[in-house]
Amino acid sequence: MRTTTRVAVAGGAAMGAIGAAAGRRRRRRAAQVQRPARTGFMLAMHGAFRRDLAALRDAAARHADGAQPDGVREGWELLRHQLEVHHVAEDRDLWPVLCDRLTSEADLAEVAAMVVEHARIPAALDAVDAAVRTGRPARGAVDELASLVEAHLDHEERAVLPLIQRHLTDAEWHDWLETERRAQPPRDRVRFLAWVLDRAAPEHADAVLEEIPRPGRFVYRHAIAPRHEARHLWSDDDGRAHAVRPRHRPVSPG
Ligand SMILES: [Fe+2]
Repeated sequence: MRTTTRVAVAGGAAMGAIGAAAGRRRRRRAAQVQRPARTGFMLAMHGAFRRDLAALRDAAARHADGAQPDGVREGWELLRHQLEVHHVAEDRDLWPVLCDRLTSEADLAEVAAMVVEHARIPAALDAVDAAVRTGRPARGAVDELASLVEAHLDHEERAVLPLIQRHLTDAEWHDWLETERRAQPPRDRVRFLAWVLDRAAPEHADAVLEEIPRPGRFVYRHAIAPRHEARHLWSDDDGRAHAVRPRHRPVSPG
């Protein structure tokens, strides 16, 4: 085949692939507009918070005298960052959209309770942070924070996720996810992906991975996940992981 012909064939194939991808995106959006919000991604984030709170409790008990090893301090800093980002994203961009759709005073009160509960968390975060940074015993502050956040996550799942499913379309839900993704610098998007998928339950991993194009899943599996695992977050200085559950990568397709 002559070079000009080869170039023309390759160009045609590339245009076809771009067109097919655009068609898939259009069909996906059309389906999202029609159906109620699928909030599996939120459950995946909550699962990651619960995993890290368990690891934090475990570390505080293991090092009851105070001084926390580097792996624990790094795990703590990542947990704190993700909690702060998550609650700002909900308060700033999700609750206002949801409240616009609600007419029942009882439903509005449930969303208002989310904001009140979020507002109690920074002081509890500061108390753990102060203990971890200064090497003081952290157990009391950790129990306080974990109880507060776990009760909040349970409340949100019980009272507010059903409101999201009832009042927002899946397209509106994805608009929120996309707004939050774009609000983060690329490096933090990668850190978030590694964090949320670390030892995720299969249904949580599926909910996250289905949002990522196939090449992105490949990069996650072969570059991002191994690099994250090598950090041994929450482990002691000798590199042995003291994880609550065995570490494994999600087993979803792609
Ligand atoms: Fe949440």
